[in-house]
Amino acid sequence: MEQHTRTDAYSDRYADRAAGMVASEIRALFAVASRPEVVSLAGGMPYVSALPLDEFGGMVGDLIARNGAEVLQYASAQGDPGLREQICDVMALEGVQACADDVIVTVGAQQALDLVTRIFVNPGDVVLAEGPSYVGALGTFASYQADVVHVAMDEDGLVPDALEETLARLRREGRTVKFLYTVPTFQNPAGVTLSAPRRARLLELAAEYDILIIEDNPYGLLGFDGEPMRALRADDSDRVVYLGTFSKTIASGLRVGWALAPHAVRAKLVLAAESAVLCHSSFSQLAVREYLATQPWREQIKEFRQLYRERRDAMLDALDAHMPEGCTWTRPGGGFFVWLTLPEGLDAKAMAPRAIAERVAYVPGTGFYADGNGRRDMRISYCYPEPDRIREGVRRLAGVIENELHTRDTFGGVGPHRSPGVDTPGPEVI
Ligand SMILES: Cc1ncc(COP(=O)(O)O)c(C=O)c1O
Repeated sequence: MEQHTRTDAYSDRYADRAAGMVASEIRALFAVASRPEVVSLAGGMPYVSALPLDEFGGMVGDLIARNGAEVLQYASAQGDPGLREQICDVMALEGVQACADDVIVTVGAQQALDLVTRIFVNPGDVVLAEGPSYVGALGTFASYQADVVHVAMDEDGLVPDALEETLARLRREGRTVKFLYTVPTFQNPAGVTLSAPRRARLLELAAEYDILIIEDNPYGLLGFDGEPMRALRADDSDRVVYLGTFSKTIASGLRVGWALAPHAVRAKLVLAAESAVLCHSSFSQLAVREYLATQPWREQIKEFRQLYRERRDAMLDALDAHMPEGCTWTRPGGGFFVWLTLPEGLDAKAMAPRAIAERVAYVPGTGFYADGNGRRDMRISYCYPEPDRIREGVRRLAGVIENELHTRDTFGGVGPHRSPGVDTPGPEVI
C-alpha cells in the first residue's frame, strides 16, 4: 500500500515567495471551533441561508435550459459586458460614476486583490495598510513578498496624521509606496468607518504624495443607518482602484467580484487575469447577471441589513451587559465585525485555547497585523450565529476574560506570549 509521509521532499525547491505562505497556529483551533457546542464568533461567513434559495435554484435551472451554450462556455477575461454594466449601476449607489469598460470581473474581491498586487508589487516593495487590516489581503501581500507598513486607525478609521507621518518618513528614507490598501467602510476586522472629512483628507494626501489607493469595499451597502457612504472612488477616478464583490450582497459561493481601475491599469489586470485563470466562470457571472436583472436585489440587501443589524444589536447589548471593566470595543454602523481590546496584561492569542475549552471562538488580533501587533485584541463577528447564540457566546467570552483577569491579578501573568508572525486562519474565518 502507498505510504503518505508528512516530510516534504521538495522543501529545498520552493520559490522564496512560498516562504510567506504559512498555515496559522490557530488554524487547528478552528477545526475544534466548528463543533456544534462551540459558539463561533470567529467566522466571517455571510448568512446566505437568508436568500430565497428555491427561487435562486429555479432561476439558475431556467438560465441553463434557456442559455446553456453561453453559460457553460469560456468567455472573455474581462468579464461579461452585461454584468459589467450592472456592476456600474451597483457602484452608482455609492456615488461612483463608472464606465463598464473600466471594470474587470474577478473571482471575488480576493482575486482582484491578488491581481492588483501581482501587477504592482516586487519583493520588498512597501504597501501601506490599516492596522489592523483584512487577513486575506495580508496573506496576498505576504505571498508577493511585500513589506507591509501599518497605519494607525481609531474609531473614525485611518488616522490622516499617522498616514502623513508615515508617508513623510518613507519619503525621507527614499522608499516608494506602491499603494495604500484600505477598507474604508465597516472595516474588516475593526468594524469602523472612515469619516467624510477624513476621506477628503486622505485623497488630498494621496495627491500630495502621489499614492495609488486600493479601496476594498465589500460591506459598503450593508450599513444599518441611512444612505450608503460615498466611496473614495466617487471623488477620485485616477488615483483609486475600487474593489467590489457580490459575496456579501448576494452569495459568497458564487465567487464574483470586480475591480474598477483607471484604463491602463484595467488593461494590465485583464492580462494578469488571463494568465491566472484564462477567464472567470461564465456560469457564476451569468447567474449574477440574471439575478440582478430578474430578482428584487435591492429588497434582498435591505433584508440582509435588517438581519445583520439585529445581530449587531445582540452583540453590543451582550458586550455592554457582560464584559468586565477594562475591555473596550468598537460599535460598527454596518458590516460584520466588532474589534475588542482586552485589559492590560491579557493576551488574546494565548487565551484562545482556553476560550475554546469554554465553547466560544474568536480570531486573535495578531492575525490582522503583519508585524506581530494585536496581542491584546480580537475580532468577534456577528454575521453568522443567531442572536441568542451571539448573546450566549459573548457571555461565555466574558467569563473567560474574568478568569484571565483573576489569574493575572493572582499570579501576575496569564500564560505564554507567542511569537509574532502572520496568521492565515483560512477561508472559514475570512
Ligand atoms: C475586506 C475584504 N476584502 C475582500 C474579501 C474577499 O471577498 P470575496 O469573497 O469577494 O473574495 C473579504 C471577505 O470577507 C473582505 O472582508
